[in-house]
Amino acid sequence: MDRLIAEFDRALRAVAGVAHAERPSPAEAIPETPLEDESKAHAAALMRVNHVGEICAQALYQGQALTAREPHARQALEKAAREEEDHLAWSADRIRELGGRPSLLNPLWYAGSFAIGAAAGLLGDKWNFAFLAETERQVEEHLAGHLEALPPEDNRTRAVVEGMRADEARHRASALQLGAAELPEPVKRAMRLASRVMTTVAYRV
Ligand SMILES: [Fe+2]
Ligand SMILES: [Fe+2]
Repeated sequence: MDRLIAEFDRALRAVAGVAHAERPSPAEAIPETPLEDESKAHAAALMRVNHVGEICAQALYQGQALTAREPHARQALEKAAREEEDHLAWSADRIRELGGRPSLLNPLWYAGSFAIGAAAGLLGDKWNFAFLAETERQVEEHLAGHLEALPPEDNRTRAVVEGMRADEARHRASALQLGAAELPEPVKRAMRLASRVMTTVAYRV
């Protein structure tokens, strides 16, 4: 029961955009560069997409942790979820600094990802970690794309994205170490398609 309340509390905080970071934002020491209005709006929209990605990660890991069988699997998932909470807070802060707003559809993103995570967890730890590893790989790829798309002079946003990308690479490595299987190609394709829908919508709404 306590666990359910804690999970629910985390879900509410994620959706409401009041996540708490345990580690300082990688942008902390980086001075703000003046940006044109258009660049600023573009960076804010990209960070909204990343923030939604972190909402989804949070929900996926919570769903997976809830249905994971082995205690060590659960612990690894909970640790990753805590680091994703840092990402949530960092990206929410950066959206605010850029004068943007988080996605209006966050409750929807959260609910959908939670259901997918819980389903993955039910398939057993090998597939649970396979799903985690593939998610992190795709997120890493996506963040690398954002580093190309962001205004080159926006050093603060870039620092946040780079910090997140480094964490995602570690999450992926730890999932592989925990015995992740390789997902079938059609599943990977479906995941890529779902994330394309999400990123396209979240850039606007
Ligand atoms: Fe993340
Ligand atoms: Fe991650």
